[in-house]
Amino acid sequence: MRHIMLGDLEVSRIGLGAMGMSHGYTDSGTDEAESIRTIHRALELGVTFLDTAEVYGPYANEDLLGRALRGRRDQVVLATKFGMISHTGRGPGNRDSSPASIRTAVEGSLKRLETDHIDLYYQHRVDPDTPIEETVGALAELVAEGKVRHIGLSEAGPETIRRAHAVHPVAAVQSEYSLWTRGLEERVLPLLRELRIGLVPFAPLGRGFLTGKIRSADGFKEGDFRHGNPRFTGENFQHNLRLADEVATVAAEADATPAQVALAWLLAQGDDIAPIPGTKRVSRVEENTAADGVQLTTQQIDKLSSLPPAAGDTHPEAGLRMMER
Ligand SMILES: NC(=O)c1ccc[n+]([C@@H]2O[C@H](COP(=O)([O-])OP(=O)(O)OC[C@H]3O[C@@H](n4cnc5c(N)ncnc54)[C@H](OP(=O)(O)O)[C@@H]3O)[C@@H](O)[C@H]2O)c1
Repeated sequence: MRHIMLGDLEVSRIGLGAMGMSHGYTDSGTDEAESIRTIHRALELGVTFLDTAEVYGPYANEDLLGRALRGRRDQVVLATKFGMISHTGRGPGNRDSSPASIRTAVEGSLKRLETDHIDLYYQHRVDPDTPIEETVGALAELVAEGKVRHIGLSEAGPETIRRAHAVHPVAAVQSEYSLWTRGLEERVLPLLRELRIGLVPFAPLGRGFLTGKIRSADGFKEGDFRHGNPRFTGENFQHNLRLADEVATVAAEADATPAQVALAWLLAQGDDIAPIPGTKRVSRVEENTAADGVQLTTQQIDKLSSLPPAAGDTHPEAGLRMMER
């Protein structure tokens, strides 16, 4: 597995998103033993970069990683996120990146993760009620205390990124980016490159859609993010199936699977990009991790880059409002 740098932080260029093991997908949280085997298999295959967040569960996903990493903590770069749960009484559903809330959040994450430091600590969504300078100031104190090694932002726009980086170097920005969710190329990626900040694409498999395994939206259970998501409903879904088919055509040509092609396209966008595909199954972590060895031709990359845009927003309205781009 090749490694890349996110700012000054070295990671395997394919990571593992752990969210779906506890949260957000049909059958999340139903098979802890397989989830733990998946994490251990990822480590055996050279994955060093694991992604979780306080709000996944909430809390259950960090707990799971803490248990899975007993005796293996030193082998991984552990990334988690704060800011979607308020510890200062703003109430459920309200973002909170105030210094007081971060202080409480970090102690909880360290305890659940059974560690004395977080390698990469991201703000999960920009907090409209706390200036980013205050948030990053609090994070800089955690770095000075050794509780946090590197800091990151998620779904932050260019202005916020620049302001944050002026207070303390930002190692990585994590945003949705994939064959069917573009939009970072114009403003965000050039800025990240100017400031030497890495990009961590989340949902790199289009929440499973780009793998070609989802041919109907009927099977999503209550609590699955895709239930009612504009991309996965009605005519949009039917339209988007053609995208998945195009990915499958390139995959057949490249002698790879569609999931591997979706990841290989991201890797081809630069050596400052480390996607974090999510799975709770050993077989799929093996498949996804093998994308490190898939080499697409220039023609294949161009064909994928010029796929028509997906139909439907990435999130329902309330989710979209929380994202800067
Ligand atoms: N910063 C943020 O706001 C944010 C938001 C969302 C996610 N994330 C992070 O990003 C990570 C990845 O995103 P994601 O998990 O939402 O989406 P994703 O990686 O695009 O897709 C995950 C989905 O694809 C399925 N899958 C994985 N590999 C597959 C394969 N080879 N063939 C067929 N299906 C496959 C998984 O099912 P199985 O698990 O059943 O294999 C799961 O349903 C998350 O785990 C989380 O850590 C961050």
